[in-house]
Amino acid sequence: MTKRFGAREALRGVSFSAERGERLAIIGPNGAGKTTLLSILGGLLEPTDGGVRLPGDAATGWVPQQTAVYRKLSVRENLRLFARLEKVPDPDAAVARALEDTDLTERAGDELGSLSGGNQQRVNIAIGLLADPPVLLLDEPSSALDPRHRLRVWTFLDRKAEAGTTILFATHDLAEAARHADRVLVLADGEVLFTGTPRELETEVGAGTDFESAFVAFLQKRGH
Ligand SMILES: Nc1ncnc2c1ncn2[C@@H]1O[C@H](COP(=O)(O)OP(=O)(O)OP(=O)(O)O)[C@@H](O)[C@H]1O
Ligand SMILES: [Mg+2]
Repeated sequence: MTKRFGAREALRGVSFSAERGERLAIIGPNGAGKTTLLSILGGLLEPTDGGVRLPGDAATGWVPQQTAVYRKLSVRENLRLFARLEKVPDPDAAVARALEDTDLTERAGDELGSLSGGNQQRVNIAIGLLADPPVLLLDEPSSALDPRHRLRVWTFLDRKAEAGTTILFATHDLAEAARHADRVLVLADGEVLFTGTPRELETEVGAGTDFESAFVAFLQKRGH
């Protein structure tokens, strides 16, 4: 697909597929087109050219980079609201499950605006999980999380993938991509520079002990 914003080309002929239960990391510099790509997959943006094919009536769940929540409502009220908006069959059960999965049960009654940034991000993730979608799209899900909650969220997401949920996530954390992705898609200036396993990417960029520096050098060599 291609996506243009006026004269700016945010995606230039990006094409890929993902298997059921696969975890695909989308990595690349700021402005590469990661959020644009995930937004199109989530049906929030229309591509200029091309399109997305999902099996059957498969819906996608969306965890945005920026939180879209009501700061004056409690955590539980936010989740209930989104569960109703998404027409989840049993909203109360879905809310309870999402709170449990993100370790937020104890904070359920707190006003959302009073939570720390990382805890608000966990609410954001909980909202994306409400409908238990077969394809989950997460835009930098762990960037604000402390190591314990990052681990908890990933334990949960890895288990989801094992059960057949396809997980696409954008991240700037190469170690996270290496640990939790089956396949990596490197995007720069709207173009796919690489797709393959994290191990293949390490080989491609010539990473020894310092994957991050090697990755930056790889991008530079490719003109980014
Ligand atoms: N609504 C919009 N209107 C105009 N340009 C946009 C819009 N959304 C994105 N862009 C442009 O598209 C390009 C890709 O942006 P995008 O947000 O997808 O990047 P990203 O890879 O998610 O970056 P980051 O790592 O900073 O989150 C950028 O040049 C951006 O300025
Ligand atoms: Mg982004």
